[in-house]
Amino acid sequence: MILASWNGQLMPLDQVRVPALDRGFLFGDAVYEVLRVRNGEPLFWEEHRERLQAGLDAISLSIDLDAVSQQMRRLCVASPNNTGMIYLHITRGVGSRRHAFPSTIEPNVLIFVQPLDAAEIHRKQEFGITIALQPDLRWKRPDIKSSNLLPNCLAVNQALREEASEALLVNEFGQLTEGACSNVFVVAEDQILTPPLEMRILGGVTRKVIIELARRLGYQLLERPVDQMELFTADEVFLTSTSIDVMPVVKIHDHIVKGGGVGPVTRRLGQSFHRCWTL
Ligand code: PDD
Repeated sequence: MILASWNGQLMPLDQVRVPALDRGFLFGDAVYEVLRVRNGEPLFWEEHRERLQAGLDAISLSIDLDAVSQQMRRLCVASPNNTGMIYLHITRGVGSRRHAFPSTIEPNVLIFVQPLDAAEIHRKQEFGITIALQPDLRWKRPDIKSSNLLPNCLAVNQALREEASEALLVNEFGQLTEGACSNVFVVAEDQILTPPLEMRILGGVTRKVIIELARRLGYQLLERPVDQMELFTADEVFLTSTSIDVMPVVKIHDHIVKGGGVGPVTRRLGQSFHRCWTL
């Protein structure tokens, strides 16, 4: 049984009923976070909270995040499964179906802990994954972690049809933006490259930690636009996200990334990242 918190009330997830006029349901008028939880302890909550607050501000949705944080912690204590991933979703709430925001409306907050197949992730990290390039068809504010994820879903499903496990999105200028649900890093000539936040990509929490780690380990890390062609001469490519940590990419369509195995930079960063949150 997956336990959920619906506006602070604990109940089985499959008993949560979202009202038909909820603006998250009708308009995608909602923001969300996904974070790791280990033995009931949410990881990198301050970083996730900061991003969540920025998203709420960007869509003029006001809610007390201290109260949301308390709901999340209560759920983590009560949840039968308290190691995995927390899904936290805030919608503007229920109002008549009009585009304009209703003036008096209470947000709806759904939180649940979903299990994570750690063995499967470790297996993929050992051998690396295949990705497929897809056009970035999203709106112009992917820095807001909104629940409008249809273009991301379309891209992932196209990637799956091409026997890849993640889509890497490319903008109209042929530059990489990010994965459908991850950020991207490219290792080339002793530099680690990653697209800058100025491109309005999602400021991944894992991305932020990896950038800090890489610099601390003495790597030269540049946040700059990366042309898709740079992938094909890269020494290493990897993706980062809360659900996959640091994931090596060994194949892009039919192109085998140098050597076809997990490169030393990716491996070192993956191990350091793991150490930093298992401490
Ligand atoms: N997605 N970019 C996109 C588009 C994402 O959806 C995600 C994460 C990331 C990585 O962010 P972080 O390191 O903070 O997890 C980058 C989550 C896991 C999801 O939607 O399930």
